[in-house]
Amino acid sequence: MNRKLIAGNWKMNGLSAEAEALAGDLARRYRGAGAPAFDMLLCPPAPAIGLVGRTIAGSGLALGGQDCHADPKGAHTGDISAEMLGDLGCSHVIVGHSERRQDHGETDEQVAAKAAAALGAGLIAVICVGETLEERDAGETLDVCGRQLAGSLPPGANPDTVVIAYEPVWAIGTGRTPTVDDVGVTHSHIRGTLSGRIAGAERVRILYGGSVKPSNAAELMAVANVDGALVGGASLVADDFWAIGAACG
Ligand code: 13P
Repeated sequence: MNRKLIAGNWKMNGLSAEAEALAGDLARRYRGAGAPAFDMLLCPPAPAIGLVGRTIAGSGLALGGQDCHADPKGAHTGDISAEMLGDLGCSHVIVGHSERRQDHGETDEQVAAKAAAALGAGLIAVICVGETLEERDAGETLDVCGRQLAGSLPPGANPDTVVIAYEPVWAIGTGRTPTVDDVGVTHSHIRGTLSGRIAGAERVRILYGGSVKPSNAAELMAVANVDGALVGGASLVADDFWAIGAACG
């Protein structure tokens, strides 16, 4: 069984004071817990990364970005390179989140290029996949996730360089989640897809994301092939995010 990773995707939330307070609270808890049974990753919005990094320094918490550009530098106004994230102390970066795929039209090919840039900068790429409600209703969940995953994996992907996050689009921010059986089937399919492509695929961490809360975390984290959670809304509340970590057993 892989060690669980509980990742908080703050999305576009958190001014300096809130970010510092939330990160400081979690850093104190993580440090105070001695040797927690789970890894914890905070992915604040880009302007807060430096501040959060300084706040959690020495706590054992990991820091990540929410997106990066595929190029290492250049004329890309408003974009952020993977190297810049590393320079701020990030060890991870989320790529291919459904909100980026939807809001910015990101394709699997672009996600793979971003993930490759992340690996090139020494970061771990947290690659997101997940079906829409229409695709789920059409029975296409496994096809969609398998296709997105195969198309989004960068060359050089291995258990130490990539994490996969399965996030059904219809479960994000809605309070709805798939059944634990459905989560198990999809995660198993993702594991199988990885097995054909990556040596040591069983060691790749596959996170579940979409309306993870303290009340459903224990049952979701107990599903086979679920190696942690990618948490949105509940990661903005220290008590809730910490409780999700504690639910890892
Ligand atoms: P919620 O936990 O708010 O549903 O968001 C999930 C998500 O998109 C994390 O990346």
